[in-house]
Amino acid sequence: MDTIKLEEQVSTMTQFRKDILTGLQASPKFMQAKYFYDHQGDLLFQQIMKMDEYYLTNAEMDIFSNQSGDIADLIASENSPFDLIELGAGDATKSIHLLKELSQRKLEFSYLPIDISANVIRHLEEVLPKQLPGLDIKGLNGDYFKMLDKGISLSNRRKVVLFMGANIGNMDVEEANAFCSTLNAYLSKGDMLIIGFDLKKNPKQILAAYNDAQGITAAFNLNLLHRINRELGGDFNLQSFEHYACYDPDSGACKSYLISKKEQVVHLDEETAISFAAHEPIYMEISQKYSLPEIEAMARVTGFVGKHLFFDANKYFVDAVWIVD
Ligand code: AVI
Repeated sequence: MDTIKLEEQVSTMTQFRKDILTGLQASPKFMQAKYFYDHQGDLLFQQIMKMDEYYLTNAEMDIFSNQSGDIADLIASENSPFDLIELGAGDATKSIHLLKELSQRKLEFSYLPIDISANVIRHLEEVLPKQLPGLDIKGLNGDYFKMLDKGISLSNRRKVVLFMGANIGNMDVEEANAFCSTLNAYLSKGDMLIIGFDLKKNPKQILAAYNDAQGITAAFNLNLLHRINRELGGDFNLQSFEHYACYDPDSGACKSYLISKKEQVVHLDEETAISFAAHEPIYMEISQKYSLPEIEAMARVTGFVGKHLFFDANKYFVDAVWIVD
């Protein structure tokens, strides 16, 4: 391993330790959901996406597999070359439908997938050109906004940004507004944002998606304690914590917690002891759900105008197309 890579790893580890300590020493305690995704966390999230209860993935897949032609037409209606920038591209299983439609229309565009995982970017750069010969792809590995800045500086073309998978839902409403405002500030008038929101719906259906019968979501949350044990030398006993999810149909906030089953002390290393009261929660993640007026309001206050809404057949999910005002 070269020195730069090693230094990067050390600084990522230090940040992980700092963030976990900050959260565990706060009152109420919390952890950052971005740390769920180690190797085991990625595998568990893939299992979540296949669960019967987790309707989100199928809903957005329904939109992209059935309406990518219409989305491509909307993008093409501007009639000029563009860069398609995807934030958190993952394996691009949904966006590939759109890439196919755009390629078939012989539009002049580059695909710039951004992802925090170097493996994901390497994989996309290798696999996509085989599936879509002639695709101009340049992967950007790193933090969303750093890479967006880099991606934007690559050409003067108009930008079409994809932010799918209801990832906006993992921010609370205030953070989501700040995120969209920042995104807006990077873009220019007329640029397009296609953003996926999970909609408010039957509260029981939402709760079941985050409290599945098989306990996969519980394992996904508990895996972060396992990661802390492995990477930071912690001694969490996973049996002594329990996953708890709740949904507030009024605010649309679906929140996950790990609850300490008893009074206990957990050590992160020799110097750091964290005390838990019986039933004390650690706040793990928010998955915010939205109504259509709330989505419209978010577009407006963050400097966009709503152009179109693409729904799945059940109207569980929406991919909103916003234009920079
Ligand atoms: C990645 N994100 C949109 C998922 C969600 O629905 O909030 C993460 C997740 N957490 C538990 N289940 C799924």
